[in-house]
Amino acid sequence: MVRTFGCQMNEHDSERLAGLLEADGYQPVDSESEADVVILNTCCIRENADSKLYGTLGHLKSVKDNNPDLEIMVGGCLAQKDRDLIAEKAPHVGVVFGTHNVGRALELLEEHREGGEQVVEILEETVAADKESFPSALPVVREVGWAAWVTIQIGCDNNCAFCIVPSVRGVEVSRPFGDIVREIEIAATDGVSEVTLLGQNVNSYGRDITLDLRNRVGSAGVPEPSEIADLAGRSFANGQTRARPLFADLLRAVGAIEGIERVRYTSPHPKDLRDDTIAAMAETDSVCAHLHLPLQSGSDRILAAMHRGYTADRYLSRLSRARAAIPDLAVSTDIIVGFPGETEREFAETLEVAAEARFDNAYTFVYSPRPGTEAAEMTAQFVDHGVGVERMKRLRAVVERSSKLAQVARIGNTETVIVEGPSKRNPDRLSGRTEHNRLVHFTPPAPIRGGSVVSVRIVEASITNMIAEFVEVVREPTHKTRIPVTAG
Ligand code: SAH
Ligand code: SF4
Ligand code: F3S
Repeated sequence: MVRTFGCQMNEHDSERLAGLLEADGYQPVDSESEADVVILNTCCIRENADSKLYGTLGHLKSVKDNNPDLEIMVGGCLAQKDRDLIAEKAPHVGVVFGTHNVGRALELLEEHREGGEQVVEILEETVAADKESFPSALPVVREVGWAAWVTIQIGCDNNCAFCIVPSVRGVEVSRPFGDIVREIEIAATDGVSEVTLLGQNVNSYGRDITLDLRNRVGSAGVPEPSEIADLAGRSFANGQTRARPLFADLLRAVGAIEGIERVRYTSPHPKDLRDDTIAAMAETDSVCAHLHLPLQSGSDRILAAMHRGYTADRYLSRLSRARAAIPDLAVSTDIIVGFPGETEREFAETLEVAAEARFDNAYTFVYSPRPGTEAAEMTAQFVDHGVGVERMKRLRAVVERSSKLAQVARIGNTETVIVEGPSKRNPDRLSGRTEHNRLVHFTPPAPIRGGSVVSVRIVEASITNMIAEFVEVVREPTHKTRIPVTAG
């Protein structure tokens, strides 16, 4: 059993861990008490992620007391950060591994079983040549058969003052273009129709690859054209060899793969949102008209203190360009309130920018100090937690206003939905998502499989979901598998 605590990248690592377990003959189970192996795939982005893990480990201690054969493994970002602390606090954990050695999880389990000692292996960095370091290169058990996450880049080269990701995920390394395209082509033949490309700063995807290629030109190792195409894609190989990001090329190439109907990606960094990415989104039908563009703050002083590399005006102007080029674009964002030193006036600027940006959805967070980050040192400027919570409430009210307006504006529209499965609240209904990632519930006239593409007419809308009338099934799915990976 694999439990996920973090972001999509973390969840994708879990799919790979489940894939490794199944390839080794393990069967998935629903509860820890039935499990032989429990892997906790951890996150450390905010403080509550830490406490969640230690709570779960406490609970697992009693499960292991009842079943001494149970093996508990802890991997992921918090393990990367707190390797020794986990080992010390939880001696009942058999294996601790990190973000750079997901592919070695079962070998480490074997080592632990043979030696009986706790095994801790945390690598400091991923070796670029080691393809196993990309979780997508490992076997997979997908949570749903028709949708796939594909890691295109690992690590992050930015240094946002609040963020722990670079220290636990390492430097940015892009996965070869040809590997990504081939993986998605194979997934499409397995019936996958929706892919989400994952990276911490997807807009800079490929810059490291093309820099490396450029450095090799003129030296002894001049790459062959076929090698250039495999590493950097055909458009790059056919054009000039100036080092540049390849994300727009990748969107076009993935969008052209037969059977892929929806391409999503997360996240682009506003400072690097280039016109070529916007153009590729606009010109490639299968790329969803949905942009997740993390704002973080609307105050230029706070943005500078965060080292985000853009101003509020520049953010808004990038957004206007994207909206002008891509009709009916849905926009979501991430915002942090209560960053150290944030004044009431600076917070009010965030409210103003959020109102002007008319977000369809926003993930809002109260700042949480993370050890080792620059902002965590600014203790004298920490904003009182209660003030942060109150600011977040006010921000939510602004975001909810624009998201409600956007939802209600869709009443009467006919929309295309990919069915996810029965609605959690009302099992007579099915739930699915539009290309804008809006959640829609509807009552089907007859059973419809997850992954089916259906057309529905929107009749009601609230902030979080829409109710629709079924119109017709547009296409049946072709995938076969469905094995659960549980949420943490
Ligand atoms: N690479 C992504 C972000 C990954 S983390 C990007 O740049 O968009 C996801 C979100 O968590 C961030 O966008 C940020 O809003 C939030 N976050 C990160 N560190 C945080 C912290 N220390 N306190 C509160 N929220 C944080
Ligand atoms: Fe963190 Fe910034 Fe990198 Fe995103 S871009 S992962 S917020 S350092
Ligand atoms: Fe993701 Fe959490 Fe790691 S957000 S990258 S799992 S710290």
